[in-house]
Amino acid sequence: MRNPFIVGSFVRAENFFGREALLRDVLEGPRNSLWVVGARRLGKTSLLKQLEYLVQESAQSPYVPLYWDIQGAGDSRGLADLLIEAVEDCEPFRRQAGIAVEDLEGAPVHEMLATLLRRAVRSGWRLLLLIDEGEELISVSKADPTVLPRLRRILQKGPELRAVVTSTRRLARIDDHSPVATSPFLAGLIPPLYLTPLLAPEAMRLLARGGLEERDAQQIVERTACHPFLLQLIASRFFESHDLVATMEQAAADEMVANFFSFDFQTLEATERDLLRHVAAEAGRDRAALLTASGLAPERTDETLQALRLMGYLTETGGRWSVGNWFFERWLRRGPAPATEAAAEPGGRP
Ligand SMILES: Nc1ncnc2c1ncn2[C@@H]1O[C@H](COP(=O)(O)OP(=O)(O)O)[C@@H](O)[C@H]1O
Ligand SMILES: [Mg+2]
Repeated sequence: MRNPFIVGSFVRAENFFGREALLRDVLEGPRNSLWVVGARRLGKTSLLKQLEYLVQESAQSPYVPLYWDIQGAGDSRGLADLLIEAVEDCEPFRRQAGIAVEDLEGAPVHEMLATLLRRAVRSGWRLLLLIDEGEELISVSKADPTVLPRLRRILQKGPELRAVVTSTRRLARIDDHSPVATSPFLAGLIPPLYLTPLLAPEAMRLLARGGLEERDAQQIVERTACHPFLLQLIASRFFESHDLVATMEQAAADEMVANFFSFDFQTLEATERDLLRHVAAEAGRDRAALLTASGLAPERTDETLQALRLMGYLTETGGRWSVGNWFFERWLRRGPAPATEAAAEPGGRP
């Protein structure tokens, strides 16, 4: 039997587990512009690729999907180049929308989007625009303050266009830099939907692919708290080593895993990081203890705790808070160390 676990690259189709409610919300819910927040390696790209896949496979869907990864765009020219690349990479989109790359070249990015939308609609479709690595918009807007209001106007065109933006929490800061005269970019995108860890039964189904014994699978579910990347990483290594205890210990001490946590940690706000440290300092603290430790306003503390819980950084049982999973707790206790981007990105872009 081949190792069935996938670590690092996005997953879709039969390799994609869980998230039914979220997929349904995005495709069938009332909102035409959505923001999905998720920690690193929690499955943002996979979610978008699965949306693309589901729509492409469906005979009933009114949408034609386009996946647009904007990482590294830098400015509006970069955004435009990556949009061309997205269209170039997606033959079904070009065919369905009746568009060629030459129809777009040379135009500014908001005009390209308007053209894409017009063509899609003319061909009888709604456009499902799937924007990955949304925090890039912060750099783009710093380089080019006029582009965000223009993008925003297009993203909010209503039923002909449904836009899904994924990012880490970092995108929340985008309006800090925008000039006061323009309306805030996030206004039409909030409240965000949160990408949570998988549910235990979904994680068990994923692990069942490797023919794991129930007891081993349960321990992996427990230690990873269904964080999809950690699940697949541990399952994949265990599949090769057949020694669960050693696999867990090695992963907890592993530089790649530490780098992953370091980079993930850096996407959080200082107050969020502090709160995580306070929870890690003593497992099972309650809200009152965390309020005292953090010194933040109660509403702020509650809001931060809930956001951290939804993203899987923390768990709460009976009012007592602990770190989301065993690996992250070990890393937090050890104390954050500097990381190198390359090591944190297995299968990621250089
Ligand atoms: N729905 C899912 N089902 C199974 N595994 C998943 C799922 N989502 C993510 N993963 C695992 O997490 C890893 C990272 O997923 P990815 O979509 O690249 O995350 P992100 O874009 O948030 O960094 C994948 O390689 C895979 O191991
Ligand atoms: Mg991604």
